[in-house]
Amino acid sequence: MNSTIALLKSRFEQAFVAAFGAELAGVDPILVPASNPKFGDYQSNVAMSLTKKLGKPPRAIAEAIVQQLDVVDVCEPPTVAGPGFINLALKTSYLEAQLKAIQSDPRLGVAKIDPPKRAIVDYPSPNIAKEMHVGHLRPSVIGDCIARILDFLGYEVLRISHVGDWGTPFGMLIAYLREAFPEALTGRNDLDLGDLATFYRQAKKRFDEDEQFQEKARLSVVELQAGDEETLRAWKIVCDLSNRTNQKMFDLMGLSPLTIRGESFYNPYLAGVIQELDRLGMLVEDNGAKCVFLEGFTNKEGNPLPLIVQKSDGGYNYASTDLAAIRYRVNVDQAQRVVYPVGAEQTNHFAQIFQVGKRAGWITDDVEFVHTPLGSVLGEDGKKLKSRSGEAVRLQDLLEEAIAHARADLEARLAAEGRQESQEFIAHSAQVTGISAIKYADLSQNRTSNYIFSYDKMLALQGNTAPYMLYAYVRVQGISRKGDIDFEALGADCPVVLTEETELTLAKHLLQFDEILMAIDEDLLPNRLCQYLFELSQKFNQFYDRCPVLQAEEPLRTSRLILCDLTAKTIKLGLSLLGIPVLERM
Ligand code: ARG
Repeated sequence: MNSTIALLKSRFEQAFVAAFGAELAGVDPILVPASNPKFGDYQSNVAMSLTKKLGKPPRAIAEAIVQQLDVVDVCEPPTVAGPGFINLALKTSYLEAQLKAIQSDPRLGVAKIDPPKRAIVDYPSPNIAKEMHVGHLRPSVIGDCIARILDFLGYEVLRISHVGDWGTPFGMLIAYLREAFPEALTGRNDLDLGDLATFYRQAKKRFDEDEQFQEKARLSVVELQAGDEETLRAWKIVCDLSNRTNQKMFDLMGLSPLTIRGESFYNPYLAGVIQELDRLGMLVEDNGAKCVFLEGFTNKEGNPLPLIVQKSDGGYNYASTDLAAIRYRVNVDQAQRVVYPVGAEQTNHFAQIFQVGKRAGWITDDVEFVHTPLGSVLGEDGKKLKSRSGEAVRLQDLLEEAIAHARADLEARLAAEGRQESQEFIAHSAQVTGISAIKYADLSQNRTSNYIFSYDKMLALQGNTAPYMLYAYVRVQGISRKGDIDFEALGADCPVVLTEETELTLAKHLLQFDEILMAIDEDLLPNRLCQYLFELSQKFNQFYDRCPVLQAEEPLRTSRLILCDLTAKTIKLGLSLLGIPVLERM
């Protein structure tokens, strides 16, 4: 399957060469969806961009291109408008054939990248020994979605959780472990510490109450980094407990399986990073710390900003481990694309480590490292979402509350409809709807902007929400139930016939699925997919309002059922790429 845009691009290239010679081979035809359906479906703005190069008025250029443009199998005869826009309207016969071609294709016409590439998505990376909170929602949800889309597009994807497992908060927990559960360190390692939450709260209480305990905590950090065996054992217990607790959150959110490869993993490689930077002459001593002076970053006084890569006491920091990770990801993992869906507040950090990585020659031109910055989740007051006690809301509370809200909505609806459903149905439906609502609300916003978190809005049945999309799927599926139709067995040799305006609109939208995914491959903006699915279900509704399906005469009846089937499949596949499962009934 060829995407329509790719097909048109190649036809334009041929026309450029035929009209103006080989030097125009490879020029981008600047094809965009038409701004207004009355101009057709696509528009090329290339003529305007070639006026200088060709020394001709744009309209003449456009006309010369159109003369050579062979798209008779795809479009109605192209027209030139205004100063030199080339307008293209897709032929109905082309649309019909394309739909027919994807009817039995599980990929719905979406090609894989060729050749395949190795990608790493770095998410979500909570700091061990602390509970996951609202700040981890976006990296989890958006990271998972980006990984799913890249995977579907043919990347070999490694999902890595770069957990913060090497820093200072450990001291407190290790010290507490020694005090409250010393047996954990003396052989009995089947100890059940319960939830990290409880454990953490108790440790924190000790820490806040007792100065001597604070001192012990500080000492534990020093011992840990010095490699003291007993401390390392305690550290390991805390990490395991923490990873187990986080895993429950990952499962509840329905994330794809992740590889935990925390900061500590890079410990053996840190000295090598420093040596290499030294060998390259990039290292400068500044107040005893080893630094790299950054280009394009200055401090308040306008002097070049140093990035500390080894502290004066010999310790390493967040930047050091990330630099080691860059080297490892290029050399050992052989990644060609590394994506970091991390909060926008870390924009400088990533710009800095990528700069060092490039200058050191670790990040070469054929490897792409991208930070995809994420905005914050805000409360109704427009400030970062906080719990009543003023701390960041626990992720677990956030998720459980969404499920509770979804359950209340569902039970109210069942009561109003006088419907009886099993407890199992209610629990499953509430869980899927609640979690999906949170995810969809997050994904449907441009990832770079902040958004206001509202259970009511995300659970609304109308608007660009998960419940709306889940319903849309159930409704389309309902048609097959109502007519006792097996979508899978829909006549392979029955043609698709598009006669009504709403059918054509729906058909064109269905065929743009691959273009949306290609665009996300470029800019990694999942909200494009939400918008696409939302419009798809609106266009489906308009079609369904206008066109009888089960009551239609053949061949329209089967053709329209094929449109229903393709809509359901596109919604299901699209939602699965967002990390959202469908419900067969709601
Ligand atoms: N642990 C960090 C935090 O909570 C996020 C890590 C992101 N990934 C990375 N490779 N730096 O802020």
